[in-house]
Amino acid sequence: MNLSELIMARRSIRKCNALPVEQELVIELLRDAARLQPALDAGAWRVVYAGTPESSKQLVDYMLAQITQSKLGKLIPGKLLDVMKRRFTEIPAHVIVLSAQGTDRLTSDRNFAAVCGMMQSFQLLGWERGLGMIWDTESIIQNESFFKGIGIREDERFVGILHLGYFDKAPRGRKRTPAERKWTIWEGSTI
Ligand SMILES: Cc1cc2nc3c(=O)[nH]c(=O)nc-3n(C[C@H](O)[C@H](O)[C@H](O)COP(=O)(O)O)c2cc1C
Repeated sequence: MNLSELIMARRSIRKCNALPVEQELVIELLRDAARLQPALDAGAWRVVYAGTPESSKQLVDYMLAQITQSKLGKLIPGKLLDVMKRRFTEIPAHVIVLSAQGTDRLTSDRNFAAVCGMMQSFQLLGWERGLGMIWDTESIIQNESFFKGIGIREDERFVGILHLGYFDKAPRGRKRTPAERKWTIWEGSTI
């Protein structure tokens, strides 16, 4: 598969199978993805990895803390919560990606953008090896318990969690907006 075919073929995987994900593979893919992002300083990113059933279970508790601790959450039937928790706990590995804030907004944004680029490369390199993932930034998981639980530092910014797993069937891709519709020709200012 060449690069453009790989980019077109990759899909977000929301349903993975139970095959374990090797930690060594995750490290190798992260290393390669970071190499593909020349603008990424070594100090600009960090990963927190959860790859055991026990750590996944605790992570999921943190992710869903905002729901379970809220008044509204208390009304959610226990069974439904259990289903939600099980869905995440059964995922073999979770890669939480953090970027460095830097001393000013521009540095923080540059680091964040470079880390996003690295994560996309990581997704593509994973796909090449049959490893699927979904990039999760849901607002509900971004709560105080979660940030405290994963040990995020004050000078770090949450970029996303990649939930990783092998899969049996890739979903169909969604329609993309043609680039021409995102195209403005600027012929100079009239002011
Ligand atoms: C920055 C970023 C954040 C995302 N956050 C979420 C998310 O919170 N929940 C989710 O279901 N998918 C999330 N996704 C996955 C997108 O929904 C997914 O990429 C999109 O549906 C296109 O599907 P594809 O990756 O198969 O092409 C995120 C993707 C990116 C790039």
